[in-house]
Amino acid sequence: MLNFRTAGESHGKALIALIEGIPAGLKLDLDQINSELAERQKGYGRGGRMLIEKDRVEALSGLRKGITLGSPITLMIPNKDERIDTAPEVRVPRPGHADLAGALKYGTRDARDILERASARETAARVAAGAVARQLLSRFGITVFGYVISIGRVFCDCRLNVSDIPAIRASDLSCPDKKAAKMMRAEIDAAAKRKDTVGGVFELIAKNVPPGLGSHVQWDLKLDGKIARSILSIQAIKGVEFGAGFASALIPGSRLHDSIVKSGKRIVRGSNNCGGIEGGMSNGSDIVVRAAMKPIATLYSPLKSVDLVTGKQSPASVERSDICAVPAACVVGEAALSFELARALLEKTGGDSIREVERNMNGYLKQAGAAFR
Ligand SMILES: Cc1cc2nc3c(=O)[nH]c(=O)nc-3n(C[C@H](O)[C@H](O)[C@H](O)COP(=O)(O)O)c2cc1C
Repeated sequence: MLNFRTAGESHGKALIALIEGIPAGLKLDLDQINSELAERQKGYGRGGRMLIEKDRVEALSGLRKGITLGSPITLMIPNKDERIDTAPEVRVPRPGHADLAGALKYGTRDARDILERASARETAARVAAGAVARQLLSRFGITVFGYVISIGRVFCDCRLNVSDIPAIRASDLSCPDKKAAKMMRAEIDAAAKRKDTVGGVFELIAKNVPPGLGSHVQWDLKLDGKIARSILSIQAIKGVEFGAGFASALIPGSRLHDSIVKSGKRIVRGSNNCGGIEGGMSNGSDIVVRAAMKPIATLYSPLKSVDLVTGKQSPASVERSDICAVPAACVVGEAALSFELARALLEKTGGDSIREVERNMNGYLKQAGAAFR
């Protein structure tokens, strides 16, 4: 089964993504992985760390002449800011971070032991793994992209398509609506001025996903459950919704559910309020997921906390930090969605080599899914 693990600390030697289950014979473009890593690093409102790092992967295993062997793929992203052994202690845990719960759990008074791994620097490895999954998906014509729809209280009322990807990438807020982006920048500037932080919402879309990925037969095989878990596990993500999401609860069934319509020989849907997943399976429509990110937890005007060594009330520690990281989180979300879709695709088709996977997918589409393409 396709899976990945990550390893590495924020200021350690490197981040690692270990990916198992990618079939043999897939040509991997490392430049494309690096370009995803560069996307994760940018965004209006990021802090100083991203100016230090220039994330690039080194492939340590699983490839021969740039082609996957079917063996575990190890990707390493070296840290330029390697100082884990000399970085100062963090005795006053920061509210909103893993610091306090982790220090209690591991019996330490130095939350640096916790934050080094809890840090969202780890998401660089997730993006690398997701970029591999994307290359597999693209063999099947599946595209995953995302964009920012709100920062703080500023919303962009847009529904974007594949043709908008260059404009999304060109925007420092992953929001091609220039008017909204300008107001979002102002929201971030205002937060910075108040020594505060802001969160936001991003939307992810997967196009051309064949029907029948995931399963209705068991709770932990449902595709929406798997995608939600993966996205919710991204640092600072506090909510996930599919299609009409929370608004579904307000709409009568007669207006919410997506009619099934015959169009020539094809079966199409009258709308996509379900966000492309019904009964735990992709239904052939676009998969549409939104995620809400809480404001960055490290505050330059710190909240109250307690010194774990003296036991005295004290302002929380301050680590170098972003003011807003929603565009970066969106890139991590794209990686998470890509990986889950690649896993579901391989679960549907099986296959040790990419040719076998393609043959199995083509057979399946011929039998059941052609009507949706
Ligand atoms: C891409 C990205 C960058 C982040 N950068 C920062 C940061 O600079 N400072 C910070 O305090 N939190 C940052 N965070 C959020 C923290 O990692 C997160 O709030 C913390 O891990 C606790 O989140 P949780 O309660 O959801 O686990 C970032 C999150 C993401 C996804």
